[in-house]
Amino acid sequence: MSEWVTVLTEEQIAAKTAQVAKRISEDYRDEELIVIAILKGAFIFCADLVRQLTLEKVKVDFLRAASYGSGTTSSEEVKLIKDIDIDIKGKHVLIVEDIVDTGLTLSFLVEHMRLRKPRSVRICTMIDKKERRQTDVTVDYACHTVSEGFLIGYGLDYAEDYRNLPSLYHLKQ
Ligand code: IMP
Ligand code: MG
Repeated sequence: MSEWVTVLTEEQIAAKTAQVAKRISEDYRDEELIVIAILKGAFIFCADLVRQLTLEKVKVDFLRAASYGSGTTSSEEVKLIKDIDIDIKGKHVLIVEDIVDTGLTLSFLVEHMRLRKPRSVRICTMIDKKERRQTDVTVDYACHTVSEGFLIGYGLDYAEDYRNLPSLYHLKQ
């Protein structure tokens, strides 16, 4: 039997997302921002985040990367399954992730973005999970930090299930 422990409730997620959106809106005031959501996990967080940005010019695109198989351990291999369509040359880019774990996905994606010569690339994540970090990737905005554990809900899956849950849970097996 697995046990579910609440990490953040719907209300806590909303409050933290609003705080981060405010910081981003201040940091990019009067600038155009290209938000790139990393599918699939970031789809809900990104949808909530962009609606709280008070910037005038926000473009949204999607990229799909996969680094995990169907379980809870990293395959340590990042594959690009769908690339962005928007031209990011000379633009401010904000990559939006659900959770940063080893950091391997983001290191790969930041390099991938830099090849297109954006003006800047920053990272925003719902959850910064620090314990297994293997790269020196900088997380610029994080709603919440955890040390360890496998989380589900609010976009995060376990073998493709539970993405639809409005709260975030730690799945203890
Ligand atoms: P990283 O490359 O190890 O940083 O892994 C990043 C990706 O792995 C995330 O975008 C998630 O899709 C997935 N992932 C990492 N930790 C978890 C978790 O606790 N629950 C669900 N997915 C996770
Ligand atoms: Mg992901």
